[in-house]
Amino acid sequence: MSDSPISHHPGGDLPMADSQSPSEDAPASPEQKAQMEQAYAQMRRKMRMTQLDEQIKHKIMVLSGKGGVGKSTVSVGLALSLARQGKKVGLMDIDITGPNVPKMLGIDEAELHVEDGQIFPAIGPHGVKVISMAFLIEDPDKPVIWRGPIKLGAIQQFIGDVAWGELDALIIDFPPGTSDEPLTVSQSLPGIDGVVIVTTPQDVALLDSRKSINFAKTISLPCLGVVENMSGYTIRGKAESNSKISVTGPTGTAIETTVDENGEWSITLDVFKSGGGKEAAIELEVPFLGALPFDPGIVRGGDDGVHRIIAEPEGSTAAAFDAVVENVLKELDGSSGPTVRIS
Ligand SMILES: Nc1ncnc2c1ncn2[C@@H]1O[C@H](COP(=O)(O)OP(=O)(O)O)[C@@H](O)[C@H]1O
Ligand SMILES: [Mg+2]
Repeated sequence: MSDSPISHHPGGDLPMADSQSPSEDAPASPEQKAQMEQAYAQMRRKMRMTQLDEQIKHKIMVLSGKGGVGKSTVSVGLALSLARQGKKVGLMDIDITGPNVPKMLGIDEAELHVEDGQIFPAIGPHGVKVISMAFLIEDPDKPVIWRGPIKLGAIQQFIGDVAWGELDALIIDFPPGTSDEPLTVSQSLPGIDGVVIVTTPQDVALLDSRKSINFAKTISLPCLGVVENMSGYTIRGKAESNSKISVTGPTGTAIETTVDENGEWSITLDVFKSGGGKEAAIELEVPFLGALPFDPGIVRGGDDGVHRIIAEPEGSTAAAFDAVVENVLKELDGSSGPTVRIS
């Protein structure tokens, strides 16, 4: 652990106890003290891991087979949607090489507070508690290259050292792929409820999400369901309140809507093929949690740090996130089937 990037005990590798150990009543050498301190720190961390299970009601991992499908956007959206319902929510960004959750929440300048060996999360909109490797990286333009064991050690430490407090839900965002990270988290954090898989409607993304579903099965975690992201393109306009708007969709058919009280309207067009996420869910016998529209405001929000749910809390994207959250909560309530946990 001494080589961990967030170790509280710098100073390189600790020497092993050997034949030169002083006799019992001799005062402990600095090395022995450091060694003891490290052993205590590890014990405390283990105890905290167990406490985490009681303190955090639901723990949800968000995975995708492919990058760029909107996993971080969805993780942030789920967290915000839950939080604006009054739930206490934590969001853990495990993506070490490209952590972008703080930027999406406009808190990338935040500094983490460390006290008594515990890391206190940064606070985002609606009180969402956020932990991200981004807070620990000094130069965001420098790529972080951590070798496997150090990276996984850092993740373990990350999980055990964070003072989350009582939470209704912890959302964990991962780098793309079914790599070591989700495995390490599932082994370190007790009582994970399950996995939410994010996909886009195209076949290649769906193929990858099938891998994610199988991965969830392999590590004996329930698949809470599939979210289809970028499932249609939302266009908006202004017109006379309560008047009708008709738009010709990509397949040539007319789509109609009524302008709302504020004189605003929006229509979602299926630009990519849609419904693929649902098909994959049915085929693989996992729940379909809902579709999120392709919304240019999400891209802008990712860049300027104001998530769509915050910028437009009554908008269609926020409503789509709420619908997904409702389905996730249903899955959590009905916790389908027995779960074997890996230890
Ligand atoms: N529903 C959406 N509509 C429009 N753009 C989106 C949507 N979801 C994600 N994006 C954009 O796609 C890009 C990748 O999203 P991100 O959440 O970082 O993906 P991942 O975490 O899977 O790599 C970002 O620029 C993001 O703003
Ligand atoms: Mg991401």
